[in-house]
Amino acid sequence: MADLAFQRCIDPRCGATADLSDTSFRCPKCGGLLDLAYDWDRLPVPKTLREFEAAWANRSDPLDFSGVWRFRRLFPFAPPDKVMTVGEGQTLCQRADHVAAYAGMNPGCLYLQYEGMNPSGSFKDNGMTAAFTHARMVNARRAACASTGNTSASLAVYCSVTQLMRAVIFIGSGKISYGKLSQALDYGALTVQIAGDFDDALRRVQEVSSRLGIYLVNSVNPFRLEGQKTIMLRILEALRWEVPDWIVVPGGNLGNVSAFGKAFAELRDLGLIDRAPRLAVVNAAGANTFYQLYEKQGVRWNGGAYDAPKVDRYMTAMDAANLRADTLASAIEINRPVNLPKALRALERCGGVVREATDAEILDAKATVGAGGLGCEPASGASVAGLLKLVKEGVIAPSDRVVCILTGHVLKDPDATVAYHTADPAHFAEKLGKRGVKRVQFANRAVQVPNDLAEIVKAIELYA
Ligand code: F0G
Repeated sequence: MADLAFQRCIDPRCGATADLSDTSFRCPKCGGLLDLAYDWDRLPVPKTLREFEAAWANRSDPLDFSGVWRFRRLFPFAPPDKVMTVGEGQTLCQRADHVAAYAGMNPGCLYLQYEGMNPSGSFKDNGMTAAFTHARMVNARRAACASTGNTSASLAVYCSVTQLMRAVIFIGSGKISYGKLSQALDYGALTVQIAGDFDDALRRVQEVSSRLGIYLVNSVNPFRLEGQKTIMLRILEALRWEVPDWIVVPGGNLGNVSAFGKAFAELRDLGLIDRAPRLAVVNAAGANTFYQLYEKQGVRWNGGAYDAPKVDRYMTAMDAANLRADTLASAIEINRPVNLPKALRALERCGGVVREATDAEILDAKATVGAGGLGCEPASGASVAGLLKLVKEGVIAPSDRVVCILTGHVLKDPDATVAYHTADPAHFAEKLGKRGVKRVQFANRAVQVPNDLAEIVKAIELYA
């Protein structure tokens, strides 16, 4: 296995490699990010993507039941007996005409990839199963992450279900929604709340992990991104192996977009698809580093030679001005995305664009998604908010085939949802108004009625 799969620096000008068992997740030569790389010539690569359909007949095997591991031939780093699966990746790619109409798309052209159906309620399980498997391969006893809530919930699930490792999670104070915090606490993770935000927590967890030798599962961990590639494989499968025109995804730490770009580049290199879809990343306007750098400052991957000094200057200026990420979409409240170089590479490979959406736009899009049947958390709504903009701008045509990724379940952040729909102005002002949301378009207010049968009947006849 070892020489068939290895870690490699993403900068083609460096190209240094690291052993599969290396858990520093930094290039040993230049300190850059690492990728998983495979010697495909010596591995049993499928001839067509249809070959994966056979796994469905073998669903009693947990590896074939998993919506991640049944594609394992496309990320062959783990011996099957080391794989840790909790049945992740049984998710849905749903045609969504109601949301299509909202975004100005034609009926039948928009699909929502609903990753909230994962065991921990977000897309993170796709990556966590892969990282957790690697952690097991290197005999880790403790695993850590900094998190805006979903990575921690996912890690906590894998630790509690398998009882193999102790979860140590770092969160910023007041920066995590209750749905997610309650998961970490209930699943028994050691929860370290630091005085700071996600960007602070991520810096600290990297220091602490290397000092204490704790396995790190944030998305700097390239094994996680291997698992996240399978979100794209399931979309292709749902579309009967036809490549859509666009994938639209919210951007936080930029792990997803990096994984998606890698998936399509590999599928193309292996001759399994003939073209890649285009990628659109949507930042929250209050955490828009990637939008600023890519769209406003023109930073491009440039074959690895991206303008790193410009990125550094941007980050330094941000720190000097004490500009902290600030959005109600707390999952993507991140100003220093660790996967920025990988995301630049993904956009170069797939002809990508980046947009930003305000909290009000995100919450309206989220409510539309909910009213269309599949609820999601605020960050996920960013993908639909971004789609609306791209259709208005004419970048995406109403007849294009588009898949928006719904990254997390509606129950992750009930506070945001209830505040959006509240009939109480004080509640609205406290939760949303204070954060800059003045008006929402699709509030579905509860109807207040006296405890009286006739009044209740009257209200129902009036409204329904
Ligand atoms: N959507 C949700 C629901 C998320 O939880 C996250 C990231 C993202 C989108 C952004 O994804 O980082 O791949 O660009 N949440 C992380 C966490 C940071 O700690 O749970 P990305």
